Amino acid sequence: MESLTAYIAQHRERFIQELFELLRHPSVSADSAYSQDVLDTADLVAEALRKAGCTAVEVCETEGYPIVYGERRVSDDLPTILVYGHYDVQPPDPLNLWETAPFEPVIRKTELHPEGAIFARGSSDDKGQMYMHVKALEYMVSQNALPCNVKFMIEGEEEVGSSSLSAFVRENREKLANDVILISDTGMIEKDVPSITTGLRGLSYVEVTVTGPNRDLHSGLYGGAVANPINVLAKMIASLHDENNHITIPGFYDKVIELSTGERALMAEAPFDLEAYKKALDIKAVYGEKGYVTNERNSIRPTLDVNGIWGGYTGQGAKTVIASQAHAKISMRLVPDQDWNEITDLFTKHFKNIAPEGVTVEVKPHHGGQAYVTPMDHIGYQAASKAYETTFGTPSIPHRGGGSIPIVPLFEKELGSKTILMGFGLNSDAIHSPNEHFGVGNFLKGIETIPYFYQYYTELFRSS
Ligand code: BES
Ligand code: MN
Ligand code: MN
Repeated sequence: MESLTAYIAQHRERFIQELFELLRHPSVSADSAYSQDVLDTADLVAEALRKAGCTAVEVCETEGYPIVYGERRVSDDLPTILVYGHYDVQPPDPLNLWETAPFEPVIRKTELHPEGAIFARGSSDDKGQMYMHVKALEYMVSQNALPCNVKFMIEGEEEVGSSSLSAFVRENREKLANDVILISDTGMIEKDVPSITTGLRGLSYVEVTVTGPNRDLHSGLYGGAVANPINVLAKMIASLHDENNHITIPGFYDKVIELSTGERALMAEAPFDLEAYKKALDIKAVYGEKGYVTNERNSIRPTLDVNGIWGGYTGQGAKTVIASQAHAKISMRLVPDQDWNEITDLFTKHFKNIAPEGVTVEVKPHHGGQAYVTPMDHIGYQAASKAYETTFGTPSIPHRGGGSIPIVPLFEKELGSKTILMGFGLNSDAIHSPNEHFGVGNFLKGIETIPYFYQYYTELFRSS
């Protein structure tokens, strides 16, 4: 594919400007104030798919935000790749921490990206990564070099649990039939270290409320005589980890698959600089479960984290008060073979169990999903590996991701196909944070690597 790098060099400016247009649409799925913007973004994605060469492009209505679908058929004898991505983004707050406005994309040079990085909400998660696939398709179609059939399915509710997509997948098994699913919504180990994500963690997300007295009380008149829901909640949360940072919920680890010594040794070979890691976060020490190193703690081990906690008086000055209620949002990241519904139940039982007399506890489950592992002997994995090696010049490294894409295990259950996670993001992209960015180099490298996946996958498919 001599012409591939030339094509990218020639159209580079246009690719970036088109992505900018997508990034200017604030498609925040969590906040209904943005609902028209989310809908407009779906239309823009549909238009982009059409222009790149998809036929039968549809903006499929759902009970929530639409799913954009498109396909291009070459021949019934050839395999079909289903590309999944999401056009919704996380809320941009806290706004004051952004150096430039979240929905006004700009290119700035950084130490890591001397060639420039695109700063905007969604640049890496996932509009920038999704758009690499659209531009890769454009290239293949323009050169009459699309080697197999392709389907695109881009949703608008990933950041809020993909509930409409779950139903859509169950109801459209025929339409979505495919041989392999291809997603760029994860990251690489380091810039210039080609790596393929071989696993995603599962998730159970719950919200807890501790209720004490029926109204807020004067902390002098009542303090010491009734349970303070905030004190109690803090104590209950603290007790969820022991002195080794193991999670104390009975049964929590029962189904966890431990990796073999060999598998852990392989993981330890991946490049990782602990000093640089600490420096990037301005921390003096890392923290976590005893017996595991950082890269294990954030990928092959389950975790429990408070994501938010509130209650009582948090305004200016001081107010002497015992609040009636305290609240927290808690996420648990899960690993194979933990079942997220089971874990949610175990958490609920335990959390109610440890509540002292004098308070009541309510646990409200939010969304969740199962963990996922891509088998490395799958031809999709091998094709991805060859593709990375072709464009980066070095062999790719498998790595397990710490994040979750709950729809991936559901794809396997409903459509029977494996997912290949070809992520081009970096941990330093600051996804979900202020100043999210995506290296221009990463963006272009993605566009360059994807067509090779198509080529190698089709070759391996035909010879298998
Ligand atoms: N793209 C991320 C997931 C991700 C990022 C996986 C990097 C691996 C590496 C996705 O958009 C996301 O944010 N997922 C959520 C879960 C969802 C149910 C809200 C997550 O992981 O918190
Ligand atoms: Mn994402
Ligand atoms: Mn995300």
